Amino acid sequence: MTKEYHIPVLLDTSIEGLNIQPGGIYVDLTFGGGGHSREILKHLGREGRLIAFDQDADAWENAPEDDRFTLVKHNFRYLQHFLDYLGIEKVDGVLGDLGVSSHHFDSPERGFSFRFDGALDMRMGPGIELTAADIINGYSENQLFSIFKLYGEVPSCGKLVRAILAERNNKPFRSTADLRNLAQTVAPKKDVNKFLAQVFQALRIEVNREMEVLEEVLMQMPSVIKPEGRLVVIAYHSLEDRMVKNFIRSGNFAKSQADTDLYGNRDVPFKAVTRKAVQAGDEEVKENPRARSAKLRIAEKL
Ligand SMILES: C[S@@+](CC[C@H](N)C(=O)[O-])C[C@H]1O[C@@H](n2cnc3c(N)ncnc32)[C@H](O)[C@@H]1O
Repeated sequence: MTKEYHIPVLLDTSIEGLNIQPGGIYVDLTFGGGGHSREILKHLGREGRLIAFDQDADAWENAPEDDRFTLVKHNFRYLQHFLDYLGIEKVDGVLGDLGVSSHHFDSPERGFSFRFDGALDMRMGPGIELTAADIINGYSENQLFSIFKLYGEVPSCGKLVRAILAERNNKPFRSTADLRNLAQTVAPKKDVNKFLAQVFQALRIEVNREMEVLEEVLMQMPSVIKPEGRLVVIAYHSLEDRMVKNFIRSGNFAKSQADTDLYGNRDVPFKAVTRKAVQAGDEEVKENPRARSAKLRIAEKL
């Protein structure tokens, strides 16, 4: 069941990156099919603990029966809150494997994939208000332009946005097929599928506020992770990876330069363990094409 739900990406490197202490407390921010979580549990001793988050009810079915394991069925933006609730002051490592699982793309009714017809929804969890249809039917021209450009890097997205505005005046978009059919008319002929994937990705990121929640959770890392504890993040989008990279280098997102104290010492909460992002090798990409865009970064708390 789990293998079909999602094949974990960069499994060995991410687990090594966590440098798991058998008696330590770890957090998996993105439980999904539980591939990474199960591997963490294998490295933990009897005293170890793993707290995993997933906001998507489908993922909850994959939770292992293990008394060292706790699944928090909420958005990981509430990490600090739930650690307080569980009486945990600090943890030894945090893993985030961002975005959606393969299961999401394979479930037509969730609306994540242009390959199937389904409701234009894309909400990962119950607390999310706007659906993809609300955005397509309700956002202004400028708002639509920004999300397609920023989150999808959609080429000539002005054309797409104008086509959406004209179409929705006739009738609102309801299904993934409505959007796909319209987007196909403005897609570059040589790479229609890539174009559609970019359009759908942009909407998914906006629906689930993925950039916002990543920023929120990263800001919690300095107070949540113990000195010498590890932060391991796998990102699939260049904006997310840049956010993680800047955060590790400088402790903030606006710039990759760290603040310095009065004596010129760099004032940063983490040091990078790997200088560059780690990417999947050819063999892994061949077996799991999803791994192609993955960038993994490892940092240690100072
Ligand atoms: C890429 S998958 C993780 C796959 C997992 N590492 C595995 O090996 O199966 C990402 C998962 O994180 C969940 N997720 C994404 N953003 C979330 C958020 N802000 N809060 C809670 N869960 C989130 C998704 O529902 C999805 O199940």
